[in-house]
Amino acid sequence: MLVNGKPYRTIRIKPDDPKIIQIIDQRKLPFEFVIENLSTVNDAARAIKEMYVRGAPLIGVTAAYGMYLAALQVSKPDDNFMQKAAGKLKATRPTAVNLLWAVEKQLKAISQGKTILEMRDIALKTANQLAEADVQTCKKIGEYGLSLIEKIYQNKKEQPVNILTHCNAGWLACVDYGTATAPMFLAHDKGIPIHIWVDETRPRNQGSKLTAWELAQYGIPHTVIVDSAGGHLMQRGLVDMVLVGTDRTTYTGDVANKIGTYPKALAAKDNSIPFYVALPSSSIDWNIRDGLKEIPIEQRDADEVHYVDGWCEGVGRISGSSSNSSSKKVRITPKRSPAANYGFDVTPARLVTALITERGICLPNEESISGLFPENQEMRVEHGA
Ligand code: MRU
Repeated sequence: MLVNGKPYRTIRIKPDDPKIIQIIDQRKLPFEFVIENLSTVNDAARAIKEMYVRGAPLIGVTAAYGMYLAALQVSKPDDNFMQKAAGKLKATRPTAVNLLWAVEKQLKAISQGKTILEMRDIALKTANQLAEADVQTCKKIGEYGLSLIEKIYQNKKEQPVNILTHCNAGWLACVDYGTATAPMFLAHDKGIPIHIWVDETRPRNQGSKLTAWELAQYGIPHTVIVDSAGGHLMQRGLVDMVLVGTDRTTYTGDVANKIGTYPKALAAKDNSIPFYVALPSSSIDWNIRDGLKEIPIEQRDADEVHYVDGWCEGVGRISGSSSNSSSKKVRITPKRSPAANYGFDVTPARLVTALITERGICLPNEESISGLFPENQEMRVEHGA
């Protein structure tokens, strides 16, 4: 994706040092564009936990590179260290299943190495493969999603297609393109007029900070709205489709995504608006039937609710910048009020119109999902689920 006209991916190997992985510190966007270096598995775990990187696919790929960094930290094969590294990475965030998927893939691949050099080589190749596969997957999701936008546009004729999205399922959440945003980028490239309603997505504001920034960089018309505005817009015919990502979708079609997604699905159902979920198959949990009962929901620090941070104009100079502005954190709740910070909710399959995957569009049910991914159904039967 282009940032100020320069191509970037969200994660890469440092060009002049293959022992360092570089990421964008997303906590600082959209105000500052800062690249961070990761050189140990602890660095990778911290980057995921503290949300330098976030979004299910990118969490998975970062963990895969984290396993490569772990392999660089030992001088001879050390299964105990690698298992501990895997455990550390898996414990960072509980909801995105891509994390477990990527770490398991790495453990299996690395176990084939007989020497430490072989293990490192395999770990690097596997992480690179997962990163590249994510890019190709998002491109395919974009193509399938585009067909849905085109259909709506054909019915609407001259007017822009209004799409509501929640959180950030954009290129920042993946390696490139994004899942929910890939169809938007392709529609825009094709000259189909679109306009995106961007939910701000409290408490961390991934919508107003990240999705809005991405869309602005790409020149896609968009409007940031407060999280509670979606239903109102839908009632007035201002939303043609809802398009979101997911952190974990069961093989039966229940969708866990950023907190606040479920109310959008309810409002969409009430207003007969299609509700689509764009996802790579790495976000499908083949072992969970009931999303509401079984998907672990992350609860984060209450301070994310108590405080907001943003850009204060005219209050000080940040080093290395000519602007007279700086980032500030302010409290927005009374000192004595407790807060709860649930990170995700589960939208039951019955509220989802369809899933957009890298293999095509399917209904949110076991038969239709397994029809696209038959190899995984066999795997589940083998495990006796
Ligand atoms: O807490 P975050 O920012 O990691 O949550 C991200 C989301 O909820 C995204 O919608 C999801 O991971 C899909 S990203 C393609």
